[in-house]
Amino acid sequence: MKKTNNKNNKRTQKPQGGRSNARVSGARMNAPKNRTQNAKASAKPANKPAKPKKKPSNASSSEHTQVIQWYPGHMTKTKRRIEKDLKLVDAVAEIIDARIPISSRNPDIANLTSGKPRIILLNKCDMADPRATDRWVSALSRENVRAIPVDCKSGRGVDKFVPVLTDLLSDRIESYKAKGMVNPTMRVMIVGIPNVGKSTFINRIAKKTKATAADRPGVTRGNQWFTVSKGFEMLDTPGVLWPKFDDQTVGEHLAFTGAIKSEVMDTELLAVRLIDLLKELKTPAFIERYKLTDEDLELQSYEILEKIAKNRGMLIAGGEADAERAAYTLLDEFRAAKLGRITLELP
Ligand code: G4P
Repeated sequence: MKKTNNKNNKRTQKPQGGRSNARVSGARMNAPKNRTQNAKASAKPANKPAKPKKKPSNASSSEHTQVIQWYPGHMTKTKRRIEKDLKLVDAVAEIIDARIPISSRNPDIANLTSGKPRIILLNKCDMADPRATDRWVSALSRENVRAIPVDCKSGRGVDKFVPVLTDLLSDRIESYKAKGMVNPTMRVMIVGIPNVGKSTFINRIAKKTKATAADRPGVTRGNQWFTVSKGFEMLDTPGVLWPKFDDQTVGEHLAFTGAIKSEVMDTELLAVRLIDLLKELKTPAFIERYKLTDEDLELQSYEILEKIAKNRGMLIAGGEADAERAAYTLLDEFRAAKLGRITLELP
């Protein structure tokens, strides 16, 4: 995966455009219209004290953006592999991040898997706003997609997977039985972009590994399958597709949640964009955690970042706020859901 070209620049226009349905708690989160060239990315580890950095002049959040780009050179090969393996399965379970159900979906998955019964697992729902997750389940069901909210870390919701899969595949199971197959085994493939929790889900649900002999046409020797429950097996390796995005909002949302590593972009700028959203949401945990006053919330986002640094005692020589260190802290704490359960995109 090739990394980005990150630079900061000042934008002269207010953000506009972007994915029409990407919202933050009801308020539209627009992507910048113009992609600008940017300043260099800083690749400092989170716990390393930052060296003094020049404050972006007039650093109002929405006036800045950065280009986040991925270039997964081996995507074609991966897609071919998924296409090949799809012939072996009866259904596909796509795992997405419940905090960013739009940005964490690769649009290719729908095309690649068309014709296969599909389940969507809204994972990490422990970190998402529960009301927003309910709305997503309803919205997806209106599109005839079975969606299950899960928290694979604790296992909550994972027990719904097999019943939903059984229901989804009931016609297929009956048709195998009608053809004389006793106890047919249904196979499912897990797909999703990196970091949504595919391995965590597989580890949680897989009972044991067994090498499958070619017990039915098309099943390649050498593929490993996990037993999920009686009559259900899962391919051992998930289909990994990289996030794909044409607009900056998607890139930013993937970065806020940690699906794209901070090292590939300007951390302060990213933190400023996150503060834009948190300011709008007035998330209590954000305000309390960083001891922000009502007046602070009226400030430009970069100034809020400096307040956070000062309130946390993150200072550089001369007593100036260490905004870079505060940026790493803010992003780390958002990713760990210490700022509350926040969903960045609503249906
Ligand atoms: P992937 O295979 O799709 O790439 O994702 P993976 O399972 O490796 O999960 C990525 C990270 O997300 C892991 O954290 C994992 O623990 C976490 N995760 C997965 N499902 C959930 C969930 O439902 N809730 C929460 N809160 N976290 C989840 P990590 O920090 O990379 O690893 P670790 O420190 O947990 O081992």
